[in-house]
Amino acid sequence: MADVRINTKRKKGRISKYIYGQFAEHLGRCIYEGLYVGEDSPIPNTNGMRNDVISALKELDIPVLRWPGGCFADDYHWRDGIGPKEDRPYMVNTNWGKVVENNHFGTHEFFELCRQLGCEAYVNANVGSGTVREMRDWVEYMTFDGDSQLVNERRANGDDEPFRLSFLGIGNENWGCGGNMRPEYYADQYRQFATFIRSSQDIYKIGCGANAEDTEWTEKVMKIAGKFMDGISWHNYTFEDGWENRGKSDDFDSEGWYNNIYDTERMRKRLIDHIAVMDSIDKEGKVDLIVDEWGNWYDVLPGTNPGFLYQQNTMRDAVTGMLILHIFHNANRRVKMANIAQMVNVLQSMVLTEGERMTVTPTYHLFRMMKAHQDGELLDAAYDEMRYDTKYGTVPKLSISASEKNGAVTVTIANTRLDCDEELEIELDREFAAVSAEVLTADNMCDVNTFDEPDKVSPKSLAAELAGNTVKVTIPKMSIAAITLK
Ligand code: AHR
Repeated sequence: MADVRINTKRKKGRISKYIYGQFAEHLGRCIYEGLYVGEDSPIPNTNGMRNDVISALKELDIPVLRWPGGCFADDYHWRDGIGPKEDRPYMVNTNWGKVVENNHFGTHEFFELCRQLGCEAYVNANVGSGTVREMRDWVEYMTFDGDSQLVNERRANGDDEPFRLSFLGIGNENWGCGGNMRPEYYADQYRQFATFIRSSQDIYKIGCGANAEDTEWTEKVMKIAGKFMDGISWHNYTFEDGWENRGKSDDFDSEGWYNNIYDTERMRKRLIDHIAVMDSIDKEGKVDLIVDEWGNWYDVLPGTNPGFLYQQNTMRDAVTGMLILHIFHNANRRVKMANIAQMVNVLQSMVLTEGERMTVTPTYHLFRMMKAHQDGELLDAAYDEMRYDTKYGTVPKLSISASEKNGAVTVTIANTRLDCDEELEIELDREFAAVSAEVLTADNMCDVNTFDEPDKVSPKSLAAELAGNTVKVTIPKMSIAAITLK
């Protein structure tokens, strides 16, 4: 009897590629230094974007990038970020570290970044301290062709052709940093702002959704404004032991490991609750759920600016990341986009930099190992999760997800246990000619990649034995694996 049975004839919905989206905010060293160093920097760059970071990120096939925030979005005035750099006003980044924001990275630079990454653009507009006119002018500036003063200003600033704006968010966390609004008030604001997004481009509109377990926000906003939206957002961060005890990113014990694994279970339950609320209001399933901020949030690394949210990244992040991405796969009926926070140097990032040096993180390897799932058809995969108890409740030992695209099947597997490997026999309903597999694990759970040792946690090939329709493989403790069958 096989441990895992995958039925390629039983398709369970398409995994939207946008679930593998990223988020870059004007926060700490994400944009400045992490992505953008300016044309005059000694760090090798192309139009200001650092070459080493971009070339690493291109390996991830990033589908979409959200910008400029986050909380920063509701304090951002787009006109500050256009025109000659020396003339751009500078301001205090009041949300993040009270540092000076010189606005050298603005609209044109963002679309240049998307061009270099080969991804689509998701811009978050300012509702909290902005105006309807400001947003409507920004949309005209970005997306219109033809003759208008704003369009000609864009041309004078170097971009003749309109930018392609795929997604527009209307406010961010307007229940908190985006204005401390009540859901009824925000919903009315949303209706007003959305009315003035009149573009020749088909722009997908995203309303500001709830935080964590706040289904009341989802319910009220959906009821009042849902019919004017394409998607509603949801933010859910995961912690070692709640917001008050977020834990250290690179120094934790087995309890910290398992508590954090358990928080992904909380997230799964909350997601189900939000989807149930949406189902009760939007019975035809017209509005998508956009999880445009998620990831592990720990204390900042000692000695770093508390407002910069700079943390390290271990196998705990790779394993919990895979659990969460599998949760999104299974919720593909509603979840059409997700954006991990954040791409570089902030929270659960792909890349860390220090001056001219950089390293990729275990979470980077996770995203690269899972990229074949993008736009794949989710397959029925039956297996025993082998649940076990943690301090808070039970969690699965194994999480497995399989998808098919262009005749190839991808199977990703996380082993959440710190103490035991798992031998698996995977049976499929048809034969395959070739198998390849890779695994990411570490000698110790707190191992990290550093600038001196950038490959300490890096993928290796994994022995997988294929016989017709069966694959035998051992998934090590504390690991993630990806298997490809052709
Ligand atoms: O990602 C960091 C911050 O977390 C974002 O700016 C905000 O939206 C959220 O609270």
